[in-house]
Amino acid sequence: MAQDHAALTSKPNDVTPVSVPAGIDLRINGEQFHHSGDPAMPLLWYLRDVLQLDGTKYGGEHGEDGADLVLVNGKAASAIGLPMSKLDGKQVTTVEGMADAKGGLHPLQQAFIDEDAIGCGYCTPGWLIASMDLLNRIKDPGDNDIDTLPNLCRCGCQTRVRRAVKRAAAVMKQGTKA
Ligand code: FES
Repeated sequence: MAQDHAALTSKPNDVTPVSVPAGIDLRINGEQFHHSGDPAMPLLWYLRDVLQLDGTKYGGEHGEDGADLVLVNGKAASAIGLPMSKLDGKQVTTVEGMADAKGGLHPLQQAFIDEDAIGCGYCTPGWLIASMDLLNRIKDPGDNDIDTLPNLCRCGCQTRVRRAVKRAAAVMKQGTKA
């Protein structure tokens, strides 16, 4: 009988209450935002569907081709794999936030244009973000470093991307000397 009582009063695993935060405050491209919707919403859908920032692309269910990369506190992260609940207090940079305040292109953006490293353009935002992360870590990357980036380009721009990243690295090094 005692067992029956326990069965009646125990909570099945699938109804264990989960605390829902009052809201999520984060900065995106230098602006403050407050998300009060579903904390499980992936950042990618928040950017694209809520904020209409559609530079960041869908890169597969698990971000396999890197088109959904953004910087979170300066490090590349998959926007499809990040629920909003993990972003409270974080700083997010998307491709829309790469240009300077006056709209001047980031050296990487300029280098991708100069080296013609853009085919259809679908993968380009992801490459730019991954390359920013790389140049934050390695100031003078070689082909081997660039080849570690997780991005996939179906238009076959990889060789041009290598040149673009190295060109941007050289420009940025010059900038730090000036
Ligand atoms: S430019 Fe088309 S997929 Fe890379």
